[in-house]
Amino acid sequence: MSSPRLVAIIGATGAQGIPVVRELLQSGNYAVRVLTRDTNSDRFKELQSYGPVESVIGTFASEESLRATFRGAWGAFVNIDGFNSGEKTEIFWTIRGTFFLCSAWELALEEGVEFYVHGNIDYAYKKSGFRPEFHCGHIDAKGRMADWILAQDKEAAVRSRMRSAVFTTGPYIEMTIGRATPFPPSVEDGVATWRAPLADGAVPFTALDDVGVYVMWLFDHAGGEADGLELQASIAHVTFDEYARAFEKVVGKPARWIDVDLEEHLGNNWGARADSPAGYNADPNDPATMTIRQNFRAWFRVYQNSGGNKGIVQRDYALMDRVFPGRIRSVGEWLRRENENGLEKGLGSLWDRIQPENLGHVLKLSEDQRQGKL
Ligand SMILES: NC(=O)c1ccc[n+]([C@@H]2O[C@H](COP(=O)([O-])OP(=O)(O)OC[C@H]3O[C@@H](n4cnc5c(N)ncnc54)[C@H](OP(=O)(O)O)[C@@H]3O)[C@@H](O)[C@H]2O)c1
Repeated sequence: MSSPRLVAIIGATGAQGIPVVRELLQSGNYAVRVLTRDTNSDRFKELQSYGPVESVIGTFASEESLRATFRGAWGAFVNIDGFNSGEKTEIFWTIRGTFFLCSAWELALEEGVEFYVHGNIDYAYKKSGFRPEFHCGHIDAKGRMADWILAQDKEAAVRSRMRSAVFTTGPYIEMTIGRATPFPPSVEDGVATWRAPLADGAVPFTALDDVGVYVMWLFDHAGGEADGLELQASIAHVTFDEYARAFEKVVGKPARWIDVDLEEHLGNNWGARADSPAGYNADPNDPATMTIRQNFRAWFRVYQNSGGNKGIVQRDYALMDRVFPGRIRSVGEWLRRENENGLEKGLGSLWDRIQPENLGHVLKLSEDQRQGKL
């Protein structure tokens, strides 16, 4: 490639966006422009440590900000934060809404973007056969939009202007060693403990370190195999029993998983917040707004019913092996790497890092303690 291609990124300072920016900049083949509400954050500064970062200060809830982000860019990676908007509004922001609720995909096309990647999660409600107990707002909003975007990509009039791809992730495996997550670790009587209502299910965890390579592969293969493709990224379908056994082997400390009751877990993990909206800017009085309890009740049910890569959420591991031969393929491999990385960075071993006083934030959302307003 002669000069770097400019990629516009929404969600760049987030857990998922950081490895995407890192990979794109370090390749030397891409330049980035990011939309952020705050260029003073530590995470924005981290992006700058990987290379020059053009910024647009604004919000994905503004047509002006979105246009300024996309204008003149060759590519776009868009991961709209559904935990800000809530399910209903995420759908508007992802395609096109009314009043100030604008569209990322449509505006990217209008502004001349040539290749668009939609940051996605599984449309589990559809994959379950539209069974209401599996309707989880924060994942279905993205999954619905993936279907919509891929349908537009089949239209000749669209294909001649912009091609699209979908990048689908599962829960980040880093959340198993993080603070304020659906399954945070605890240390009880010297035993590393995870309480999670997963029964005989499994979680198709995604490793954030791998995310950048997959997304860059999509950009590298624009105009070819990536056009109209849904690329799904997971390490493996992991049971928490497997996780605890691997942790013992890698860390050399006792570990266990306790399969707790779902309703009990929703109350214990989120406490008084469980009945507030799953998206911090969603209107609590809107009947379309899901609470954290409703959202994560369905979310855990989805993974309870995804064991052995045979249930609701399935993955094409052969495609992943081809796209990224060096990908992380097991929970043991991820734990080994994460242990070594932590030691190198001076964070201590995984055992040190899961002590309550050392737990770090995976999501910018929880680090910022965001509550309300763009
Ligand atoms: N947690 C998981 O395991 C997981 C797995 C797959 C997908 N996801 C999905 O990923 C999305 C969140 O991304 P993340 O995981 O990277 O979370 P994160 O670490 O909390 O980051 C949130 C990102 O969204 C940006 N953002 C939020 N509101 C914005 C607004 N109004 N305008 C512009 N940017 C805004 C933030 O940018 P600034 O703060 O810099 O403005 C930040 O880059 C959610 O939809 C979630 O469902 C999560």
